Amino acid sequence: TVYTASCTAPVNIATLKYWGKRDKSLNLPTNSSISVTLSQKDLRTLTTASTSSEFTEDKLWLNGKLESLESPRTKACLQDLRKLRAQVESSNAELPKLSTYKLHIVSENNFPTAAGLASSAAGFAALVSSIAKLYKLPEDMSELSKIARKGSGSACRSLFGGFVAWEMGELTNGEDSKAVEVAPLSHWPTLKAAILVVSDDKKDTPSTSGMQLTVGTSDLFQHRIKEVVPARFEEMKKSIIAKDFEKFGELTMKDSNSFHAVCLDSYPPIFYLNDTSKKIIKLIHKLNELEGKIIAAYTFDAGPNAVIYYDEVNESKVLGLLHNYFSKLGGWESKDLTKLTKVEI
Ligand code: DP6
Repeated sequence: TVYTASCTAPVNIATLKYWGKRDKSLNLPTNSSISVTLSQKDLRTLTTASTSSEFTEDKLWLNGKLESLESPRTKACLQDLRKLRAQVESSNAELPKLSTYKLHIVSENNFPTAAGLASSAAGFAALVSSIAKLYKLPEDMSELSKIARKGSGSACRSLFGGFVAWEMGELTNGEDSKAVEVAPLSHWPTLKAAILVVSDDKKDTPSTSGMQLTVGTSDLFQHRIKEVVPARFEEMKKSIIAKDFEKFGELTMKDSNSFHAVCLDSYPPIFYLNDTSKKIIKLIHKLNELEGKIIAAYTFDAGPNAVIYYDEVNESKVLGLLHNYFSKLGGWESKDLTKLTKVEI
């Protein structure tokens, strides 16, 4: 018999950034973070996990390519899931001993991996949920988020839809470092997002090594994790619960800037934003200034691509402006700015 289960997991975009680890092998962060999960209609990973007593080794295919399963991160996830399955099996002798069988995992993204759009988050979240389903483990997303976290920190937030917080926790074993729901997707249906793909090149400095460099060399970073983020974490949760776009937008932009500032303060410095990214930042501030209030907010991860948040009532204003500006520069659909994609939350 071959046992099979499939799951999809969405991409999440942090509005309060995770940057820095206090434990590298367990992916324990130096600060709590918050994200918005995007709709699976647009960007998601689909993973099918199968297991059988006849399989001779664990195998993983990513977008049709056989990948090495030597990565300690993937191994840590598989090991935890097998342990949980073994517990279930020990309390019910009739269950097949799936925890002792090898796994075949087939994973596919419906978006380019190189686009700098957090593919590892959706990837590890889909890996963990599909195997949890295969093993018929209890559907406790916060529990599973701790396993996904070991694959990639940001992956723990992709186990939930809507608005999600990753609580950094204090324990050295990571048992309290998990994702929790701040509000479900249905809470703020008028909030929309658009992705501006500035470049689909592979990113400059991978996030794992980038954050290690920042932790080890940036003085500003200490101020960020001790003073700035703890206060911002509470404020941002409040702004989401109150659906206060002005506050949410302001905090989101400030945190993106703070994250890129600690990157610049690393030694040698890390640059993720390029000239087009900076044009987008200026344009959004100009728009908000002309409106007399914040109607659009940008955020940038470890790359030059922007995610813009806005309320649906302002969609034509926000997207229209970006479209006009970049097409006038001759950058639209050119190498300066490849595309603007509206994505659902
Ligand atoms: C800038 O989750 O990719 O996107 O834990 O080393 O796999 P690892 O890092 P990763 O880092 C994401 C960094 C970020 C901010 C965020 O998503 O919070």
